Amino acid sequence: MFYPEEIVEEVRMKNDIVDVISGYVKLQKKGSSYFGLCPFHNEKSPSFSVSPGKQMYYCFGCGAGGNAITFLMDYENYSFPEALKVLADRAGVVLPQEEMSGEARAQADLRAALLEINKLAANYFYYQLKHPQGRQGYEYLRNRQLSDDTIRRFGLGFANKTSDDLYRYLRGKGYGDLILKETGLVTIEERGTHDKFWNRVMFPIMDVNNRVIGFGGRVMGDGMPKYLNSPETKLFDKSRNLYGLNYARTSREKYMLICEGYMDVIAMHQAGFTNAVASLGTAFTIQHASLIRRYTDQVVLTYDSDGAGVKAALRAIPILKEAGVSAKVLNMEPYKDPDEFIKNMGAEAFRERIAQAKNSFLFEIDVLKRDFNLDDPEQKTRFYNRVARKLLEFPEALERDNYIQAVAREHFINYQDLKQLVNRLGSRLGQVLQTETQPGTSYREKKKEKEDGTKRSQRLLLTWLIEDPCLFDKIEGIITPEDFREELYHQVAQMVFEGHARGEVNPAGILNHFINDQEQYKVVAGLFHGELKESLSNEEQKKAFSETVLKVKKNSLDEASRRAADIAELQEIIKAQSALKTLNISID
Ligand code: GTP
Ligand code: MN
Repeated sequence: MFYPEEIVEEVRMKNDIVDVISGYVKLQKKGSSYFGLCPFHNEKSPSFSVSPGKQMYYCFGCGAGGNAITFLMDYENYSFPEALKVLADRAGVVLPQEEMSGEARAQADLRAALLEINKLAANYFYYQLKHPQGRQGYEYLRNRQLSDDTIRRFGLGFANKTSDDLYRYLRGKGYGDLILKETGLVTIEERGTHDKFWNRVMFPIMDVNNRVIGFGGRVMGDGMPKYLNSPETKLFDKSRNLYGLNYARTSREKYMLICEGYMDVIAMHQAGFTNAVASLGTAFTIQHASLIRRYTDQVVLTYDSDGAGVKAALRAIPILKEAGVSAKVLNMEPYKDPDEFIKNMGAEAFRERIAQAKNSFLFEIDVLKRDFNLDDPEQKTRFYNRVARKLLEFPEALERDNYIQAVAREHFINYQDLKQLVNRLGSRLGQVLQTETQPGTSYREKKKEKEDGTKRSQRLLLTWLIEDPCLFDKIEGIITPEDFREELYHQVAQMVFEGHARGEVNPAGILNHFINDQEQYKVVAGLFHGELKESLSNEEQKKAFSETVLKVKKNSLDEASRRAADIAELQEIIKAQSALKTLNISID
């Protein structure tokens, strides 16, 4: 579906960002901006700012930023059209209907219907649990020490032994076989129709907006399978949802707890650890990790203490690391899972275990150690070599050294010896080791640094121009949008220069152009909240500004000379290059 830009702008302009965000975050006015606690990461003092002038928000803590539309997309997990619709309704703007293609409309209707049916089913299961026909399930949950409050909070229910009562209930609500098939709640075959779940306590699975997207059911007694989950549907994508995240995301802890099962999440929440989530039997995916990264960069893994749990932890650690989340591993011994641990030892003991949770690298070394018999000299040597090789995973000398120290201490290895072993192995493996004495300065790295430098100058210059439009006068005749050689900055520069020429730069409007690309809109949102908070007040900043202008121009000319099509053009460029040497930009 495609909405014309004017409509998008109209909706955005009719929704004051301070009003919109105030519905979610408590804001306080400070100077020309509003501040509050960032809803996208956990913090104790407010670094989340909302600027009425720019109609944008930005968090100085986590870098989240955008306009009213992206706020709803991020906060409510809405798609662009969903966010637009909500804001349009809010401001009384009527969105053009015919823009939605037949196909898209059908998809949206299907999703809405599936959500509605899931809600009905969850209510049905809950009702059963609380009535005589669900007594067995209710007693089961109470036996597992869940309180009535907990049962209500998680909306637990019961699917009884009648094999098609849910089906009949939903038919009675007017839903036909075609749509019911799509829910995964019933199987409809020629031989007959029956409910997928029966004789199970039911766990509705909710998305971050508390909408039921699927179910898990635990069998009463020892039947197989012990847990049964909804199949993947239009709503339910197992690799993108975490059980309990709807509650965990609002917990104010700095980290999240990741466990394996429904009962573990619920037991932890009941014990006060409302920051627990589970990946529900399916393997932990990179999508799970990125989902978590939206809320925190630290997790404590509380997988089962058996072999499968250890394996799951070893798999999850690098995936989390890749997504920028650092992990610790909790030791559950002698119990199997968080549920059992808390039942036996209580919440306080669990809190202590969290505090003692092990750095994930040291955990990996512990697991590795189990494969070796350290009484045997040969195996011991092999173990040390494996440790050294693993330590080489850290590219930074300082960080690597910290780990060498930690491993040496924990495993009673002489620090100097281990360090030597690591360095020797490193050079043997042909790696360029960045040791303290010879910092890595390979050609590739130098080139990369330089690239980052020119990119940085372009970013700074753009930020300054946006912050302080008076600076446009200073660069007139020197810098044009073409001098921003980074494609993304070039696009933004064009719009900023155009806006300036018209007499108003419209940050929130510019941002709309990048709304479909998370990475890009983050970068662009950052541009509108650069580090130059004050205008160029002191000498140092003035100098920095003129140096930056020169750098951007020089880089641009260098690029141009490399691409020059003929001698005449090259001569022009060379002339400009030498003029640049005597150019003096004064800011006063
Ligand atoms: P309880 O016996 O109820 O305490 O189970 P548990 O919480 O100890 O769960 P377990 O360690 O057996 O499994 C952890 C999670 O893996 C469960 O919550 C389910 O999400 C999932 N799981 C377990 N068994 C099955 C199964 O047979 N099939 C599927 N699809 N998932 C399962
Ligand atoms: Mn258990």
